[in-house]
Amino acid sequence: MSSLLQIEVSPGGEHSVSRKISTEFINAWKAAHVGGTVIVKDFATTPVPHLDGEGIFAGYTPEDARSAGMVSKHQYRQDLIKEITGVDEILISTPMWNWSVPSVLKAYFDQIIIPGQLDGSGADGLKGKKITFIISQGGSYAEGAPRHGWDYETGYLKLVANALGATDVEIILAELTLAGVVPGMESLVEKKEASIAAAIDAAKKRAA
Ligand SMILES: Cc1cc2nc3c(=O)[nH]c(=O)nc-3n(C[C@H](O)[C@H](O)[C@H](O)COP(=O)(O)O)c2cc1C
Repeated sequence: MSSLLQIEVSPGGEHSVSRKISTEFINAWKAAHVGGTVIVKDFATTPVPHLDGEGIFAGYTPEDARSAGMVSKHQYRQDLIKEITGVDEILISTPMWNWSVPSVLKAYFDQIIIPGQLDGSGADGLKGKKITFIISQGGSYAEGAPRHGWDYETGYLKLVANALGATDVEIILAELTLAGVVPGMESLVEKKEASIAAAIDAAKKRAA
């Protein structure tokens, strides 16, 4: 039976573009994987804490010398790793915030990436898993756009997936989502709608 880990980042609720696209992905995935299991992690309601000293140094401290904080934080990291390595597929749906990923998603990566255990150098990592990122951006960073080169999100996410050993990685991007919302972007509304429609189409194809 297939299994998928769905990670949602946006706090935008019903207004969220990334969630709208991921909902289409999940519907198509469920139709194509009848009886499959979807594990949902919603960082808007259950944020991942930042990695701290106890979480880091537990791994370098003999088990019988660990503080109570070290024990629980180490276990938390191990549980997250078990969860992501236990599924066949991973879907991460996220906005762009300040040219990169929202910090809660970075916090998740910091919690799960432990050298030797979940990285691409020697450990099995996410080898063999299908990873899909759905990203929504208020603007555009495409070639020719005034801020081309400012996108530190898509390349970073690809890098993380590749560093963890994944080879089947796809980024589905909806851009210009703030057109019609913020003043000055009115002329881009059609492009926004086309971009969201194309992203939904790509999500459905990828899921099936
Ligand atoms: C805190 C914050 C920072 C943002 N930074 C950027 C940015 O750097 N570049 C951009 O294109 N859009 C930016 N946006 C706009 C969002 O990327 C856009 O609204 C996107 O659709 C949000 O995804 P969601 O609709 O799934 O919540 C930002 C929005 C917020 C709330």
